[in-house]
Amino acid sequence: MDERTWSVGELAAASGLSVRVLRHWDEVGIVSPGRTASGHRRYGPEAVTRLYRALALRRTGLGLEAIRVALDEQAGDSTTVLRDHLDRLEAEIARSSRLRDLLRSALDGDSSLMAVISAMTMVDGYVHGYRAEEGARLADQADALEHLLHHDTAFAAGSHVLEVGCGVGAQTAVIARRSPGARITAIDVSADSLARARRRVRDRRVTFRRLDVRALPDAALGPVDHVVVCFVLEHLSDPPEVLRGLRKALRPGGTITVIEGDHSTTAFTPDSAAARAAIECQVVLQRQAGGDAMIGGRLADLLTEAGFADVATSPREVLVGDGGSADAFVLRTFTAMIEGVRAPAVAAGLTTEEAFDEGLADLRRTAEPDGRFRYVFTRATATA
Ligand SMILES: C[S@@+](CC[C@H](N)C(=O)[O-])C[C@H]1O[C@@H](n2cnc3c(N)ncnc32)[C@H](O)[C@@H]1O
Repeated sequence: MDERTWSVGELAAASGLSVRVLRHWDEVGIVSPGRTASGHRRYGPEAVTRLYRALALRRTGLGLEAIRVALDEQAGDSTTVLRDHLDRLEAEIARSSRLRDLLRSALDGDSSLMAVISAMTMVDGYVHGYRAEEGARLADQADALEHLLHHDTAFAAGSHVLEVGCGVGAQTAVIARRSPGARITAIDVSADSLARARRRVRDRRVTFRRLDVRALPDAALGPVDHVVVCFVLEHLSDPPEVLRGLRKALRPGGTITVIEGDHSTTAFTPDSAAARAAIECQVVLQRQAGGDAMIGGRLADLLTEAGFADVATSPREVLVGDGGSADAFVLRTFTAMIEGVRAPAVAAGLTTEEAFDEGLADLRRTAEPDGRFRYVFTRATATA
């Protein structure tokens, strides 16, 4: 028996889209139906399913090109599409309710207009934000620092690794590559980042889940042998509590690896007050959001306070100049990170556009052949 098919008009009536839109979606590859001998569009069950997915993705606010890529990449895997859609909806609801609270408090006179504008530009409460540029920066950062931070990262075959705050999966890819037999659960609160991570890391050993690190006790993760936390504690207002929770999530004798930066170690030539002021904007905004851009220097104390044993720290120094990679670290990792706070820093009244841009130009200047740049990360390990 022939498969049931629908005309473009029937589908328009059922979906609420206009015939014009359906034709356009055909032209740009979102949903391309078959054709009758006389050239009329006929939509079969596969095209109708794809149309449902496209509609679901559109409701998340994705543009047409992103919808097409997502549909092509996830063809046949409707669970992933629906899970991404659910994650995005939940993130959107959380964001809207934070925005509602901010506006209420502004109307009640509890906050200054400037504070509200600043908070609105960082409504996720996360200083780096979740723009596409930040996703690309995280990937560049993981590449640039892989050897420095992870030359000694390797988890045994068969072990279960929990990566906290995986972002777009940049470190996940490194961990998976360096631990070929390990199983990895990678969690993050950002649905957008997780969707990108799922596309970046296509490995059956890796499961991405939308989870707040503070919700781990309820998450039924099973026994965890190793925890990895990279560039996440610096954004949290309660690192001691989070670390205590992670110790409980680990099996006795399991390990934790924490990698964080410390902006107070930044030094560069030529020195520049404008560049230091731009960096300070990030430090202040991060502090206002509850984080600490200098947390790398406190990791040993924090792990000990959380009850971990065998605490060991290893400074990992980036020295650019003398042949170091100025482009990958100074420009695409560090300066790109500072550039990311330009709008909230100006909105919060911490700087002006001109002063901030001068600081950025001076940071870029340090990547020239006669420049120098130094930064120290801390890699800490401990046992539960
Ligand atoms: C700077 S990014 C680091 C991402 C990744 N570890 C990397 O190095 O590429 C910090 C990540 O932590 C996530 N994060 C922040 N608070 C979190 C929480 N409470 N639970 C889980 N993830 C969180 C953010 O959404 C963000 O993706």
